[in-house]
Amino acid sequence: MVTVAHTLENLHTERRTFKPPVSLAAHANATAYEYKKAGVDRLEYWREAALRLAWHEPFTEILDWSDAPVSRWFHDGTLNACDNAVDRHVREGRGDRVAFHFVGEPGDTETLTYADMHERVQKAANGLLSLGVGKGDRVAIYLPQIPEAVVAMLACARIGAIHSVVFGGFSAESLRQRIDDAEAKLVITADGGNRRGSHLALKPLVDEALASHGEGTAHPEPCASVEHVLVVRRTGQDTAWTEGRDRWWHDVVDPQTAAHEPEWVDAEHPLFILYTSGTTGTPKGLFHSTGGYLVGAAHTHRIVFDLKPETDVYWCTADVGWITGHSYIVYGPMTNGATQVLYEGTPNTPHEGRWWEIVQEYGVTILYTAPTAIRTFMKWGEAIPDRFDLSSLRLLGSVGEPINPEAWMWYRRVIGGDRCPIVDTWWQTETGSIMISPLPGVTATKPGSAMTPVPGVAIDVVDDAGRPVPNGEGGYLVITEPWPSMLRGIWGNRHRYVSTYWNHFDGLYFAGDGAKKDVDGDLWLLGRVDDVMNVSGHRLTTTEIEHALVAHPWVAEAAVVGANDEVTGQAVVAFVIVRGDVAGIPDDGEAVAGELRKHVRKQIGPVATPRTIMVVSEVPKTRSGKIMRRLLRDVAENRPVGDVTTLADSSVMDAIRGGLEAGK
Ligand code: WT7
Repeated sequence: MVTVAHTLENLHTERRTFKPPVSLAAHANATAYEYKKAGVDRLEYWREAALRLAWHEPFTEILDWSDAPVSRWFHDGTLNACDNAVDRHVREGRGDRVAFHFVGEPGDTETLTYADMHERVQKAANGLLSLGVGKGDRVAIYLPQIPEAVVAMLACARIGAIHSVVFGGFSAESLRQRIDDAEAKLVITADGGNRRGSHLALKPLVDEALASHGEGTAHPEPCASVEHVLVVRRTGQDTAWTEGRDRWWHDVVDPQTAAHEPEWVDAEHPLFILYTSGTTGTPKGLFHSTGGYLVGAAHTHRIVFDLKPETDVYWCTADVGWITGHSYIVYGPMTNGATQVLYEGTPNTPHEGRWWEIVQEYGVTILYTAPTAIRTFMKWGEAIPDRFDLSSLRLLGSVGEPINPEAWMWYRRVIGGDRCPIVDTWWQTETGSIMISPLPGVTATKPGSAMTPVPGVAIDVVDDAGRPVPNGEGGYLVITEPWPSMLRGIWGNRHRYVSTYWNHFDGLYFAGDGAKKDVDGDLWLLGRVDDVMNVSGHRLTTTEIEHALVAHPWVAEAAVVGANDEVTGQAVVAFVIVRGDVAGIPDDGEAVAGELRKHVRKQIGPVATPRTIMVVSEVPKTRSGKIMRRLLRDVAENRPVGDVTTLADSSVMDAIRGGLEAGK
């Protein structure tokens, strides 16, 4: 695949290494001894990590793998994730510490201490209980990046309800699918959020998601499971109201008493469901445990980001709607008592220096972001960050996709002033926490490499037969031993869990990524080896978008590929064949593309909008009828088309090329 070839070229030339700063190494949370300890006794290593949490009843067993590939960790212990993230800090005298410096996009700000959070999560927990939500019930959360999003998640955890956060960039249709799959009883949303200087409505999308869409549609009936919609007032925009079902957050939560005893749950009690794209059209509801997940998130956050909770100001720019926000805004950092920045908006509102202004204003010391953001800032030019004082920064993180060495070097020099180590962290929604990363006080880093598995995690790169490849060679990334924060399954579908992750190689977890071990054995991630695309760090599936396209009356057939894109990593490129038997389809390819782009936004959400839609007369297929995406990727990336010998009809590629040339 293309990203592989592209990255491999870089690998051949990349020889630079950067040692950890001496001052950081001298006081680092994790030293080289960490690897040694984990190497001697992996389970004992995780037991010690687990003992840093507050347990209500202690656990005696570390790992139960008897029902493999479903693991149970610390299973006879009980705890509560919200108690760890909030109450414990108050109980141990840290209530006055700032938990969040919230920055709204329009410029409104709010400072919330751990004591403030304690009050809010207790009121919210009582509010949820008053709406009839209890332990084990599912709650869909569809909110902007505001403090209530964090409070809502923690309030669910507090009462033992299972949250399913749906990113605000998903459509009503995607929301409905996720609500139905989890049979959510409650939806927590807002009137709207602030996005690029205007109000983005959310509540109308919830209304649409829950409604019947009429006879003959995918949703002839209104949503059956949702009893209430709890609405945060954020933008103040007008909102339609369904009496009895819809309730304002301030009416339900604010009058509650700030006294609530956390629900002590078994370590294996599901903490949340999070939907992610798989290789088929339907998103998978991955679910995570309470104990093992929290151990993984908190421990890796402490050792990878070297958090010093008394002095650091940590900012993870991800949205809480993604796993990065779950693990590295809510559960990991809060369990560690971090002081964080939470920012609602986009990096260029109202100006392209907004992030750097925030770093300067709050004295951010640790910044965790994605390569696509870094490449965007590179494009805007270094004069912008140069205008701000970024000297508070001491550590930089990257996540979401392979970071190209050029972006890595720019991040280090322009943002990190050549003094901050970079931790390139590889992990997935499935893994729950960071699996591969440098340790900032230990590892000499190489630009573009995620380096080595974190202590306690066992990873390898294998060939087609599942045999480890030697140093210097590439293959498939696998995880060879269970780890505490591993997913516990796909909601309601054990079979799909086993077949997706465990059937490729006997006894090994298949991550779906290609990787290479360099001559030193360090790991270089090469992108997905399946039909999953990575657009700005967002995970999308080709088939998911193809399904959306063919649902449009104009489209007879569609083939989608992820093409290399300088800023977003990959971009969605769609090839469509329009129907000959439908009247009124415009002749103009651009008009068709515009309509279909709008359609995909509506079906899946803005995150999935194709960058390019090409109207073609045919798509290349194998004799068995499988779309040959490899060839379409060649076209999308303006390369000579590769091997066409397995095509059912080898003239198809000429027809596509010819048609596109003629259309220019
Ligand atoms: C996929 C997982 C984990 C948080 C964000 C994405 C890619 C993630 C890296 C990295 C190379 C990376 C992989 C992975 N990925 N981090 N540091 N280097 N690739 O979570 O949506 O579950 O996506 O993102 O391809 O499989 P996700």
